[in-house]
Amino acid sequence: MNNPDPANNLFNNTSDFDVEKVRADFPILEQQVHGKPLVYLDNAATAQKPKQVIEVLDTYYRETNSNIHRGVHSLSEKATAEYEAARNKVKEFVNAASTKEIVFVRGATEAINLVAQSFGRNTLMADDEIIITELEHHSNIVPWQILSEQTGATLKFIPINDAGELMLEEYEKLLNNKTRIVAVGHISNALGTINPIKTIIDKAHAVGAKVLVDGAQAVPHTKVDVTELDCDFYVFSGHKLFGPTGIGVLYGKEALLESMPPYQGGGDMIQMVSMKKSTYNSLPYKFEAGTPHIAGVIGLGAAIDYVDELGLDSAAQYEHELLVYANEQASLVSGLNLVGTAKNKTSILSFTLDGIHPHDIGTILDGEGVAIRAGHHCAMPVMERFNIPATARASFAFYNTREEIDALIKAIDKCKKVFN
Ligand code: ALA
Repeated sequence: MNNPDPANNLFNNTSDFDVEKVRADFPILEQQVHGKPLVYLDNAATAQKPKQVIEVLDTYYRETNSNIHRGVHSLSEKATAEYEAARNKVKEFVNAASTKEIVFVRGATEAINLVAQSFGRNTLMADDEIIITELEHHSNIVPWQILSEQTGATLKFIPINDAGELMLEEYEKLLNNKTRIVAVGHISNALGTINPIKTIIDKAHAVGAKVLVDGAQAVPHTKVDVTELDCDFYVFSGHKLFGPTGIGVLYGKEALLESMPPYQGGGDMIQMVSMKKSTYNSLPYKFEAGTPHIAGVIGLGAAIDYVDELGLDSAAQYEHELLVYANEQASLVSGLNLVGTAKNKTSILSFTLDGIHPHDIGTILDGEGVAIRAGHHCAMPVMERFNIPATARASFAFYNTREEIDALIKAIDKCKKVFN
């Protein structure tokens, strides 16, 4: 899979990948569902947690739990040190220039809302334009629609072709000197398409626009280098990266974050408060009002340690082989239609079965122990583009196996038998 875009560097390395050793780190995978071994193929919704993350969370609550940045007592100092150490891990993980550029939020959704409201609402005017894509998750659509209603700015969409790839020639036509923001997903949650984000970023910068990349589906599958990408904002959630729910990251270029007003007011984000006026804390604390998800941040740090040790490159290569195998097997199933056949895609098999609603597929597969997601995947414009209400979606992680794909295909066959 050659692609000149350096952001699409998933499949360049090969490695021996010991999936059984990896699986032993994930206790949840050992269980049975409806008397069948669990086959967890809903990783795009949320990934499972290795015991290394679970143990760090357990230890934190048993031994360290305390509020941060406030106490002079030992526990508070320890919690603060662990919290800030995790920020440094995130900085290294995405190759940001400084920990000032790493803001902890609840998830990718909150990060996008923060940028829309703090950056967008304070800089956009009625004549301005925002570009997003038809491939986006609702979390990268609705905040921009709200911003557009608030400012009068126009929202435009880069269309996708029948394979589920962005039509870059159309993107070029949409760009002009009124474009202020381009917001694009790195990898589509509904179809698995890997977007050429470096190209998209460079073209946006050429007209003076800022770029936000939604990396929620990308960070579990590929190394991200925000410095090399030169994106203005990059957002992701911890729970899809084998970390806890309720924690996410906003990366923003320091000068931009510095220029933006706070998103929420409260404790910890201030320098001084009087009854007349408040002044704000320095970066990144200006954007972290209130007691944060301390355990979540520390757990996310442990998840980053885990994937760093595992090696995302070899995991990505293994996942790619899984996807190739899944595609081959799926192509042998009559009546199965793949939705999303991009040349560059990862870890997602979205499909329909003739005459069977995806929700029924999901229910029958669950009876066989196979967990997938069925529905519009919070990407209704993608469904509209393909003129379907929903798909069934199997999404893979590095702990899945070929045998699990065989179980998926067997369960699909059972589904067909039940309905025919
Ligand atoms: N965004 C998540 C998904 O794609 C929840 O399933």
